Amino acid sequence: MAVFVVLLGGPGAGKGTQAKLLVDELGIPQVSTGDLFRQHLQADTDLGRLARTYMERGELVPDRVTIEMVRERFAQSDCASGALLDGFPRTIAQAEGLEIMLAAIGQRVAVVPFIRVSPAVLLERLSGRWTCRQCSSMYHVLHNPPLAPGVCDRCAGELYQRTDDSPETAKRRIDVYWEQTAPLVEWYRGKGQLAEIDGEQPIEAVSRAMLSAVCAAISRGER
Ligand code: AP5
Repeated sequence: MAVFVVLLGGPGAGKGTQAKLLVDELGIPQVSTGDLFRQHLQADTDLGRLARTYMERGELVPDRVTIEMVRERFAQSDCASGALLDGFPRTIAQAEGLEIMLAAIGQRVAVVPFIRVSPAVLLERLSGRWTCRQCSSMYHVLHNPPLAPGVCDRCAGELYQRTDDSPETAKRRIDVYWEQTAPLVEWYRGKGQLAEIDGEQPIEAVSRAMLSAVCAAISRGER
């Protein structure tokens, strides 16, 4: 049985951190639209050049191209078991696009863990974040430091600070989240798919809460 999970939360809420911890437990791949756009940026594709103009300003890439990119990712064989969606959908139009894509393969979203974190904490997390260039693992100078400064614990890759984590762009990303993405909380609640998680607990406690929400949804689906 395939399992599709949507991780919802503001920029810096911990979606990527949790997705990386849950992929092994659940045996489904992480599909991060932010990572996919950054791969296109690095490869200097047409999509990467288009995405850059939005990402640098902290704005959302248009729905049509984002949905198409996810459709292509779902066509890869590892998504036959499902996916942990990190950063998608981010608008109601994207959520509707996802429903249509999944219905076409006889699937639906199993659960939407919503990682609730206050705006002040989001800003603090983004400003202290370091990311691995090789495997995209996330660290935080205070809450989750690497064993050796500047070096990834997992793959020994180089750690860097994302340009869109600068204070002005991070603030714009948080505003855009409230304007365009936060309405998805009520949208998914209305469908009975939302599982609220306190995202200001330590990383391990958030993981436990997420895993139990996903397992409960899977067992409901099997009954
Ligand atoms: P994207 O890369 O998706 O960025 P984001 O949603 O802004 O999310 P982040 O990756 O910044 O944060 P996160 O929630 O994954 O937090 P993390 O785990 O790193 O998108 C970037 C851009 O791409 C967008 O602005 C947009 O332009 C474009 N884009 C992407 N998807 C799109 C879409 N669907 N539509 C249109 N445009 C799209 O954690 C953050 C920090 O906090 C880390 O340092 C971590 O160590 C620390 N931390 C995590 N959890 C905890 C905890 N519990 N306690 C203490 N510290 C913690």
